[in-house]
Amino acid sequence: MIRLENITKAFPLNDEEVIALKGVNLTIKEGSFIAIMGPSGSGKSTLMNILGCLDRPTSGRYFLDDVDVSRMDDDSLSEARGKKLGFIFQSYNLLSQLTVVENIQLPLVYQDVSLKSQHDYTIELVEQVGLSDRIDHKPTQLSGGQQQRVAIARALINRPLMVLADEPTGNLDSQTEKEIMEVLSALHKDGKTVVVVTHDEAVAKYAEYVIRMKDGVIVKTEKNEIEAKNESKAESKTEKGSV
Ligand SMILES: Nc1ncnc2c1ncn2[C@@H]1O[C@H](COP(=O)(O)OP(=O)(O)O)[C@@H](O)[C@H]1O
Ligand SMILES: [Mg+2]
Repeated sequence: MIRLENITKAFPLNDEEVIALKGVNLTIKEGSFIAIMGPSGSGKSTLMNILGCLDRPTSGRYFLDDVDVSRMDDDSLSEARGKKLGFIFQSYNLLSQLTVVENIQLPLVYQDVSLKSQHDYTIELVEQVGLSDRIDHKPTQLSGGQQQRVAIARALINRPLMVLADEPTGNLDSQTEKEIMEVLSALHKDGKTVVVVTHDEAVAKYAEYVIRMKDGVIVKTEKNEIEAKNESKAESKTEKGSV
């Protein structure tokens, strides 16, 4: 279980403070697919950075896989990040001199895992994201959608507990966006926990739950009853803060 308890985050700014998160409570069940939405400045990125163990809260507790990571030192925090989380970015963040397979395996290098031992799993992921005929290509030889597929496979290589995606389709056209969201939907159907930040309602529609933020707090949690590919979104009330 993944749980945020009364999380606040203050950033010092000159002599004052900007309070980016003002008490966020959120429980994420394993296997959930969540979209975080909200206007610019509402705290989405700050929340994602905390969920992603890239930053620590000012107060409150964050349990990742039942372990409190909110007070961990930098080394322990980056270890938790490397072992338990996968990241997908708007700009793909692939290394241009590496091939598809090498990019996917990159997180293993940082973790000292033998690449050979993970060869079969890498090939499985390449197939899962539909890039079997592109394994030796370099990023510049791929379309944006294909590059994002590589990034999705890279996010999965360490078998993370949760995948975090910040505007994963922000650089893609609407058809490619649909294809990428279908890949993320498939991950969810496979049982993976997926959290996406987006400003696009069409993207949020693929998620199981939509969390709406405003001024540093969660103001609403909606359940999308009918997932993906369905034009009409049926909403229903859900217990606030537990998804
Ligand atoms: N490093 C920082 N220093 C000062 N203020 C920050 C910092 N990061 C974010 N903020 C402020 O915190 C608030 C929330 O920002 P952010 O989480 O980036 O919102 P969002 O991603 O929803 O646009 C904003 O008012 C922003 O200006
Ligand atoms: Mg942001």
